[in-house]
Amino acid sequence: MTAIKTAPLRHGEPVVVPVALAERAYDIAIGRGLLATLGARIKALRPGAKTIVVTDETVSAIHMAAALASLNDAGIETSSFVVPAGESSKSFANFELVCEAIVAARIERGDLVVALGGGVIGDLAGYAAASVRRGLDFVQVPTTLLAQVDSSVGGKTGINSRHGKNLIGAFHQPILVVADTALLDTLSKREFRAGYAEVAKFGLLGDAGFFAWLETNWQEIFSGGSAREQAIAVCCRGKAGIVSRDERETGERALLNLGHTFGHALEAGAGFSQRLLHGEAVALGCALAFEFSARRGLIGADVAARASAHLAAVGLPTKLADIPGGVPDEERLMDLIAQDKKVKRGKLTFILVRGIGQAFIENNVDPAQVRAFLADKIASR
Ligand SMILES: NC(=O)c1ccc[n+]([C@@H]2O[C@H](COP(=O)([O-])OP(=O)(O)OC[C@H]3O[C@@H](n4cnc5c(N)ncnc54)[C@H](O)[C@@H]3O)[C@@H](O)[C@H]2O)c1
Ligand SMILES: [Zn+2]
Repeated sequence: MTAIKTAPLRHGEPVVVPVALAERAYDIAIGRGLLATLGARIKALRPGAKTIVVTDETVSAIHMAAALASLNDAGIETSSFVVPAGESSKSFANFELVCEAIVAARIERGDLVVALGGGVIGDLAGYAAASVRRGLDFVQVPTTLLAQVDSSVGGKTGINSRHGKNLIGAFHQPILVVADTALLDTLSKREFRAGYAEVAKFGLLGDAGFFAWLETNWQEIFSGGSAREQAIAVCCRGKAGIVSRDERETGERALLNLGHTFGHALEAGAGFSQRLLHGEAVALGCALAFEFSARRGLIGADVAARASAHLAAVGLPTKLADIPGGVPDEERLMDLIAQDKKVKRGKLTFILVRGIGQAFIENNVDPAQVRAFLADKIASR
């Protein structure tokens, strides 16, 4: 990944990040106030297309009117469908409702599904778009920080199974991503902070310069200055690069899972509840991945401490003791890790680090070493 360009952007000027995927290539437009340009952008890309906007109840109440106004102003025929907010909407039941709504709205090949919301809506509406009429084009309008830097880019769509998260799904790339950074002003501080964990993850996994820049500029990302657009653009460029080289995650794309093996186990241990949001689990997972790398002698304890210190400075959890209500014991956590990851020939795959910005895929991790590490962490809580 390239280091961040720290030259200030002109506030309000959109940044366009191309995702180079041959016939599936698309642009990510990032900037304050871009929702107003949604209709014009769609019209330019698909003249004459109808749209259906899929969103959740919370986003609908705050941002739907502006989205519909933009589409109407461009003369685009539009309908909408609203599901309840929250992870539980990524269900078979909602998938059916969204698919039926798309069919009922007579959205056909050449028309568009617009996913207006966070990662839940992007995953659900994207998967419905992938499925109705064997694949309709769709546009992502991400409204959370997590969705703007991570879930709206790269084409992973899907819903949850009773056996686990994201087990049913498809790769289906959007034809356009419009990330209006002003929409994040209405996000709760906690959700914003959780999304920031994925921002920090991009620095930690592949861009030490970006991480150092974040250590200095994070407050402006939260307050909505031009550093916010800059940070989102860096993450999108980083993810776009990885996705264009490894769309289906046969290699490099797995680096994006830094912090996610420990994180998913802790998230599942907390019952995927408000007790621990995904991004919070990722922050803690990243801190643990750095500490585990230090234990394997890959980095010094000071490097792990620096990674944790930044996450803690923004208010993210970095220690097991930070999880309200406690954590399962190491046996249960190992069960959850084994459910999330295939154990191949008795070994686990982890994303580990040789430094800040230097993540790599390690296929040869002994589960006994992970168990001992977790037992120590739990004991020293
Ligand atoms: N497809 C991928 O590559 C990918 C990557 C990472 C995560 N995900 C998925 O993304 C989901 C998490 O995404 P999320 O964190 O965006 O959750 P989310 O979509 O549930 O949004 C979080 C909460 O914020 C509310 N909200 C959204 N935008 C808002 C706004 N602008 N103002 C006020 N409130 C707003 C939502 O209604 C919801 O209550 C998970 O299901 C995860 O599996 C997918
Ligand atoms: Zn994540």
